[in-house]
Amino acid sequence: MSEVAIQRLINKLHALVGPAGLLTDAQAQAPYLTDWLGKWKGATPVVVRPANTAETAAVVKLCSETHTPIVTQGGNTGMSGGATPDASGAQVVLSTTRMNRVRAIDPINNTLTVDAGVILAHAHDAARSVDRFFPLSLGAQGSCTVGGNVATNAGGIAVLRYGNTRDLVLGLEVVLPDGRIWHGLRGLRKDNTGYDLKGLFIGSEGTLGVITGVVLKLFAQPTAHATAWVGAESLDKLVDLLSLMRTRCGERLTAFEMMTAASLQLVLDQVADTRAPLAQAAPFNALIELSDTDDEAGLRDLLEESLGESMETGLTHDVMLSSSQAQTMALWKLREGISQAQVRAGKAIKHDIALPISSLASFAAQAEQDVLACMPDARIVNFGHLGDGNLHYNVLMPPDADYDALKQRTHELNGVVHQLVTDYGGSISAEHGVGQLRRDELRIYKSPVEMELMLRIKQAMDPNHLMNPGKLL
Ligand code: FAD
Ligand code: MLT
Ligand code: ZN
Repeated sequence: MSEVAIQRLINKLHALVGPAGLLTDAQAQAPYLTDWLGKWKGATPVVVRPANTAETAAVVKLCSETHTPIVTQGGNTGMSGGATPDASGAQVVLSTTRMNRVRAIDPINNTLTVDAGVILAHAHDAARSVDRFFPLSLGAQGSCTVGGNVATNAGGIAVLRYGNTRDLVLGLEVVLPDGRIWHGLRGLRKDNTGYDLKGLFIGSEGTLGVITGVVLKLFAQPTAHATAWVGAESLDKLVDLLSLMRTRCGERLTAFEMMTAASLQLVLDQVADTRAPLAQAAPFNALIELSDTDDEAGLRDLLEESLGESMETGLTHDVMLSSSQAQTMALWKLREGISQAQVRAGKAIKHDIALPISSLASFAAQAEQDVLACMPDARIVNFGHLGDGNLHYNVLMPPDADYDALKQRTHELNGVVHQLVTDYGGSISAEHGVGQLRRDELRIYKSPVEMELMLRIKQAMDPNHLMNPGKLL
């Protein structure tokens, strides 16, 4: 894009969003041009920060008319490079962070309507303000946005009970690639009037339009929680424990997170004020949480009895039942500290994979063999949302390694892990999406029919390929 064209574009954008809505200074732009992991770096002529849907529509219309590609960005916490522009300097970054109003809360209809740029933690606060609960919960909730959660179909730690973001969205408002607005902010649990249009945009990673508004489902506020940390000899035993907990606790089982000894040790080494929860380190650990709107004592008894049974049957050999909010928070700090600990300890070759729960243990045993055969010095950091069959099967590299030098090894390792995942009928991206990280692998693991259908949808919705080019497809 020539200097003249850039200046003309900036002048027109300035007329649409005003000075508060534009970042042209390189320093101010810097945080928008790299991702949370520091893995991707890009360039842009301008970061546009529209204040509302009308301004967003006007910006997208102008970019459509001038054939200017748009990279939409929310909290920039994504793990697949989906929100980082390429190095061409021709892609406008459209940040939703100024669109941060809570539009409506309806505790009778159990819906919360927010701007896409609302931070997830603020959506939690809005729900709590009317004695309701919005259950999507992930380590980045203090900075990720609801629009980004929708665009990546985020998972997190409560999927086991409440589902992914896809299950929590009732309506969307979207600015389409030509600048028109789709007003789909309905708060209906039943609406059988044609194709599920909102379903197209959930998980679309900015490639089909800019999500500007979301209607979310609200739930009863859990008043009782019971949390425990357990140690087990094998992943097999944790999977059996998961079954036991589901049978005994039903809907009250809200979280079942797994950490291997290596992933726990990483957090203990890298994150301050953390302590090992069990006297004896266990090869496999689970953080288990029950919640309900009933009495806490009864819930604790249920957890205690269930885990007592797991010890009698040899599924677990050590259990720690949290006896205070502080202890519960300390346990969650161990689980949620992993992302940060990995970044501090080095570079991780990450695999965010989903498998049938019944295959997890045999997959992990086979994967370890295959990975070590391919990379004898690999330090496997395996953790994740066991309740959803989602493992973050990562391989940690030394701190001084750099992603470029690792490219070949990463490619090999991805091939080993993802082929095994496919053999087990799994997915190469459980919750982090495709972005630019998995784009090229997608066509290996998706069928030609699936690829063709997705490409035809993309062509129909964004014929000029201006929405987040180079991502996902
Ligand atoms: P961004 O990173 O800004 O963007 C992500 C993608 O969505 C990009 O492709 C972007 O173009 C698109 N996008 C963003 N906003 C919009 C919009 N309004 N309209 C259209 N497209 C848009 N993810 C999980 O699923 N589960 C976890 O447990 C989890 N834990 C995490 C823990 C940490 C510490 C961190 C740093 C990240 C974690 N993530 C997790 C990843 C990340 O938080 C999620 O993917 C989140 O949904 C991204 O939201 P965001 O607002 O940061 O989006
Ligand atoms: C998590 O579950 O901690 C997240 O998905 C982030 C990560 O994989 O690092
Ligand atoms: Zn995760």
